[in-house]
Amino acid sequence: EKGGYEHFMLKEIFEQPKSIHDTMRGRLLVDEGVIKMAGIWDHVEKFKNANRIIIIACGTSWHAGLIGEYLIEEYARIPVEVEYASEFRYRNPIITDKDVVIAISQSGETADTMAALKLAKEKGAFIYGICNVVDSSIARITDAGSYTHAGPEIGVASTKAFTAQLTILTLIAFKLGKHNGNLGNADFMSLIAELDAIPKKIEDVLSSTHELVQNIAKDFVGVQNFLYLGRGYNYPAALEGALKLKEISYIHAEGYPAAEMKHGPIALIDENMPIVIIAPKKGHYDKIVSNVQEIKARKGKVIAVVNRGDQQVSEMADYVIEIPETSECFSPIVASVPLQLLAYYIAVYRGANVDQPRNLAKSVTVE
Ligand code: F6R
Repeated sequence: EKGGYEHFMLKEIFEQPKSIHDTMRGRLLVDEGVIKMAGIWDHVEKFKNANRIIIIACGTSWHAGLIGEYLIEEYARIPVEVEYASEFRYRNPIITDKDVVIAISQSGETADTMAALKLAKEKGAFIYGICNVVDSSIARITDAGSYTHAGPEIGVASTKAFTAQLTILTLIAFKLGKHNGNLGNADFMSLIAELDAIPKKIEDVLSSTHELVQNIAKDFVGVQNFLYLGRGYNYPAALEGALKLKEISYIHAEGYPAAEMKHGPIALIDENMPIVIIAPKKGHYDKIVSNVQEIKARKGKVIAVVNRGDQQVSEMADYVIEIPETSECFSPIVASVPLQLLAYYIAVYRGANVDQPRNLAKSVTVE
């Protein structure tokens, strides 16, 4: 059932061109210039008139939520807050019937997310679900929602569910932006065409980086710490890259917005510190170049994820992983793939049980 792959996680990483495509199927109609999402469309006035959107989730789904915030605020200009379900529910949050709550959950069974939703519902908020498991508890208590069609995710570390969540959030942001007039038609048309081509780009990334990342992983089997840095849309991608590594390889890893380095973590950098830096051309590239200079001045080992043909960062980096260029909003989807592979291979070489890491469960039904 692993389809010839050694682990479910690797199989699921490789399924992403299909799972993203399946998540868009029937929704993204490029030729007609339409995004069809009944759950959004039936309640579009709720979204349009919302005071704000509050995204609630845990773990990897929370990272997807952070990227959702960038997407929805950029393209639909609706204020978004992203909260850990466990924090939200215990702090007497201010919620009214003018708020829209979006819950993101692969399993649809996460206890904290479920409890946070019940609370939001009691206070009259409109609840939208983004779940992968059909008919799960969270999917059932929401007022409306969109399923990610990623298919069953067996590996405990979430991979294809994450990129499917990003796909849904992208569709929602574009659809709302088009509807409320913040995203003009020409931009909408070019963005949806680009989104439609993302599965192909993921295929390309999988085939062009698989072996390379495997080799890079060999050099980091013995390290104890890792930093992951990114800016803008790729700051949450850095958080997610770090989470993947820590949960399956048991190496301590931290994600940071690259500019925050000088406010503390730069003290950690020496010749033993590996730093993964996500540096696509679109998205504060010049700023990232200076961050890499700061790291190299302290002899940190830089593993850079850059666009093909990149020069400035590549010349300074110790390891270079090239991905195709995209608009900034799509770069976390594309950049996440080599980071998943990196975490996977480091864990495999450390002899860890990647599909069932210690202390973790696929659905966290305890609080
Ligand atoms: C990380 C991971 C967890 C989950 C979290 C939320 O790889 O899988 O961090 O993302 O437990 O789970 P769901 O999305 O099922 O609510």
